[in-house]
Amino acid sequence: MKTLDLSLSVFSSRIIQSTREDVILKASETRGLWICDENTRNLLPLPEESILALKPGEEQKTWDNVDRILSRCVEMELDRDSVIFGLGGGVVCDMAAFAASIYKRGCGLTLVPTTLLCMVDAGIGGKTGIDYGGYKNLVGTFYPASSILIVPQFLGSLPRKELLNGIVETIKHGIIGSPELLTFMEANRDRILSGDSEITEKLIWLSLRVKSSLVEEDLYEKGRRAWLNLGHTFGHALEAHEGIGKISHGEAVAWGLERALTFGTMLGITGTGVRERILHLLSSYGCLPRFGVDAEDLISGMKQDKKKSRGAVRIIIPVREGEVTVRDYSTEELIPLFKKLG
Ligand SMILES: NC(=O)c1ccc[n+]([C@@H]2O[C@H](COP(=O)([O-])OP(=O)(O)OC[C@H]3O[C@@H](n4cnc5c(N)ncnc54)[C@H](O)[C@@H]3O)[C@@H](O)[C@H]2O)c1
Ligand SMILES: [Zn+2]
Repeated sequence: MKTLDLSLSVFSSRIIQSTREDVILKASETRGLWICDENTRNLLPLPEESILALKPGEEQKTWDNVDRILSRCVEMELDRDSVIFGLGGGVVCDMAAFAASIYKRGCGLTLVPTTLLCMVDAGIGGKTGIDYGGYKNLVGTFYPASSILIVPQFLGSLPRKELLNGIVETIKHGIIGSPELLTFMEANRDRILSGDSEITEKLIWLSLRVKSSLVEEDLYEKGRRAWLNLGHTFGHALEAHEGIGKISHGEAVAWGLERALTFGTMLGITGTGVRERILHLLSSYGCLPRFGVDAEDLISGMKQDKKKSRGAVRIIIPVREGEVTVRDYSTEELIPLFKKLG
């Protein structure tokens, strides 16, 4: 039998430290459509005819808006070499990227993240998508942007609540793969919270390196990319319990990190002192919310989470700073453990 193996991984992605002026120059040189929202449209002086400004918010992550993007691409007669730009947070960037992945079977894509969360997380790694049928990110593709322009200046207008959503993901990245990032965040809290540009830039790069190295190794999440779900299995269950949109993603993930650390400590998986150190860090940034969810509700929320594997619930557990482990549990195993967890 003849066989022929094709290696078809075709993507390359470049993350570029940029200034606002660099992006303005790029916009003037490149033909394309800029997707933004009403809060991000004024971050750059773009010609009106190349902008599509959506309403802000998660509820805008819809087919209808992707349809609007595609219609504008057709109207503007964009071709495969044209570029769709996403200028915004994760909502705008996920949708712009989704549209770019399907327009003419994939056109140019440049992301310009404007939230901390999008700079260190959503903008990197090629997951695109929209919410569908009541489920978050149910429909989407893998389509990494060819360029991701990081402009820390844009965080200047970001509301504190949105900044904290990103802070929680950076703490998560520290636990997963960068003890240096944790130490840096401990040492520079005030300068990070006050938006000091040099420190913020360093924070962003320390954090995005953790995500980008996992994504580079495992774009399609067959293995270690799943580590990035640390705190999210518990966090998504909390979001489901409280009602989607009632609490911020950062609050849910911070609570999830606390639960994962407490769970790991109870089982002797998480090393001594790790839990206390991370909880102290979260609370020093004002990111340690308290919620009560009983064991049954927590498990039913986790079972709805799409990250469960074959009936088991997959939990990412910190081992020590910079190292996590993945464990699968049946619901029968988890109920007594969660009851003990309190
Ligand atoms: N693709 C991925 O791998 C990935 C990873 C994580 C999250 N996400 C997705 O990202 C989304 C959340 O992203 P987000 O936290 O960036 O939220 P978001 O995109 O909703 O932005 C938050 C708010 O901040 C506003 N905003 C953005 N930049 C601003 C700025 N510079 N100044 C003032 N206001 C600004 C937005 O208009 C919005 O109101 C979710 O839909 C989530 O599913 C995707
Ligand atoms: Zn998250």
